[in-house]
Amino acid sequence: MMLQQLFGIELPIIQAPMAGMQDHALAVAVSNAGGLGSLPCATLSLDGMRKELDLLKAKCKKPFNVNFFCVAPPAPSAEREAAWRAALQPYYAEYAIDAGSIPAGAGRGSFNAAATDILDEFKPAVVSFHFGLPSAELMARVRAWGSKILSSATTVDEARWLEAHGIDAIIAQGVEAGGHRGNFLSDDLTTQIGTLALLPQIVDAVKVPVIAAGGIADAKGVAAAIALGAAGVQVGTAYLLCPEATTSAVHRAALKSDSARHTALTNLFTGRPARGIVNRLMRELGPVSTAPPAFPLATSAIAPLRAKAESLGSGDFSPLWCGQNPSGCKEIPAAQLTRELALGVR
Ligand SMILES: Cc1cc2nc3c(=O)[nH]c(=O)nc-3n(C[C@H](O)[C@H](O)[C@H](O)COP(=O)(O)O)c2cc1C
Repeated sequence: MMLQQLFGIELPIIQAPMAGMQDHALAVAVSNAGGLGSLPCATLSLDGMRKELDLLKAKCKKPFNVNFFCVAPPAPSAEREAAWRAALQPYYAEYAIDAGSIPAGAGRGSFNAAATDILDEFKPAVVSFHFGLPSAELMARVRAWGSKILSSATTVDEARWLEAHGIDAIIAQGVEAGGHRGNFLSDDLTTQIGTLALLPQIVDAVKVPVIAAGGIADAKGVAAAIALGAAGVQVGTAYLLCPEATTSAVHRAALKSDSARHTALTNLFTGRPARGIVNRLMRELGPVSTAPPAFPLATSAIAPLRAKAESLGSGDFSPLWCGQNPSGCKEIPAAQLTRELALGVR
């Protein structure tokens, strides 16, 4: 089935949910332009989620997607937290930050029963998950009110697993993609391959529609994905400079500079691999390291360093999420970008 029919949208262009870098405004702009806007909930409290959904529903009468991370909460380990703070100690000293004052905490939330209760009030057309799927019980609740369910696959095995678990469409996330890798069956980063290689293999392996993600930045990229069998695309990085995104000033400056061409996968900011522009922390401690505690516990110890550095105009300690193809980043309204991308759909 075509993505347009499946979701009730006009253009098979999904604006990727980007936790921490957007709120309802970007989703409203894209959905109202005929694409599928997404609201990421991973960094929102339950109250914050309800507020954002209220605003989204008030400003947009078209289908939209609500996105969640799906990871079992890790058991906090005092030993690993201490080791992580020890690795960061030289930076705390440099910025005169009292490490003893930093609360331990998660920094990212996962889908759970309380979030399902709130979602039930809104019954969005589409719900997407990253890092696999929630329990069968929560899946059944989401399905019962009619939402279509999506999740990312980073390997053919993950795509087959998602199809076997009743997914409506699969996002084939190539290793070029900005932000977190959606891998959930294996932590082995050597399994992660590019969109051009991954997409046709997933299209061959499953019957459900496949959405291409990773490195798609313009209409030609959209046309290429469709030529390889994609039913639509999910684009993240290209939307980061749109005025409706909440991308920080240091992040915007980095995206506009030559440094955006050098990205890497790093686990330093959250504990899971994600692609961002190589910055000081990644150069000096990683980009991939055994020091950070399990996802998402690495986040809180970095937070004061990030805040201090950003207040001084530096992105040295910020997750500057960005895919390998930043060439589509333009300071144009998200509706215009959506329409430009859709020119690749014939
Ligand atoms: C800034 C940023 C934040 C992201 N946050 C999320 C998220 O919260 N949930 C999610 O499912 N995917 C997230 N992603 C990954 C996207 O869903 C998508 O796979 C990726 O943006 C596609 O590649 P591209 O960035 O090259 O367009 C994020 C990507 C970026 C760039």
